[in-house]
Amino acid sequence: MNIAILGTGQVAQTIGTALVKLGHQVTLGSRTEHNENGVAWAEANGGQTHNFATAAKEAELVFNCTAGMHSLSVVQQTGAENLAGKVLIDVANPLDFSQGFPPTLSVCNDQSLAEQIQQALPDTLVVKALNTVANPVMVEPSRVPCQHSLPICGNDDRAKEVVKELLQQLGWQNDQILDLGDITNARGTEMYLALWVRLYGALGTGDFNIQIQKAD
Ligand SMILES: NC(=O)c1ccc[n+]([C@@H]2O[C@H](COP(=O)([O-])OP(=O)(O)OC[C@H]3O[C@@H](n4cnc5c(N)ncnc54)[C@H](OP(=O)(O)O)[C@@H]3O)[C@@H](O)[C@H]2O)c1
Repeated sequence: MNIAILGTGQVAQTIGTALVKLGHQVTLGSRTEHNENGVAWAEANGGQTHNFATAAKEAELVFNCTAGMHSLSVVQQTGAENLAGKVLIDVANPLDFSQGFPPTLSVCNDQSLAEQIQQALPDTLVVKALNTVANPVMVEPSRVPCQHSLPICGNDDRAKEVVKELLQQLGWQNDQILDLGDITNARGTEMYLALWVRLYGALGTGDFNIQIQKAD
């Protein structure tokens, strides 16, 4: 599949590298055409890098792996026309580090970043996924040795099936993936970050996840 990843940071590079290894064509998108991180990643991994709009234009599926505080601006720079009709997997969290650690959320309670992106892109199929785990776990869930859980949500069932299939290629088992329902459920998965960052502080590692067990 031809996949664009908006972002050139650690998350974009980790997901991009895993997808290239799986045989996908991957382009990292950036504010600039020749972003230093993007160029280095492309050279090392046999991918490509472009500005946001060019990266998304040719892609069949797009990931948003940009800093959440700036993701709406990224969406605008990418152009709705380059994202229309496509599945967009939103991995970003709206973390505000301006007051230091732990960060606060720039949007929460009765809104979420994923909803704002969906509102900005009515012709795009936004699915929130992978934002609740650290990037090494995203592409190697077996780092956490139990049947841990990955919540996803989005308005379009077929888009969520596409995302589930891709997640399974990345190592997630079907019964680890919990479909919470429509995109408003991203309020829950984004607000979980308030706990995630504190667990990270307490455990000293990002190699952890939650496991949801339902009583029989
Ligand atoms: N780190 C993790 O393990 C983890 C886990 C779950 C979710 N997430 C979420 O994944 C996202 C990516 O995280 P990350 O640590 O890889 O990278 P990051 O440092 O949060 O974001 C890097 C990306 O954001 C873009 N960006 C930064 N400021 C911008 C601005 N003013 N306007 C437009 N774009 C801007 C950068 O564009 P350029 O390419 O042009 O520099 C770059 O591509 C974040 O939302 C994060 O909360 C991270």
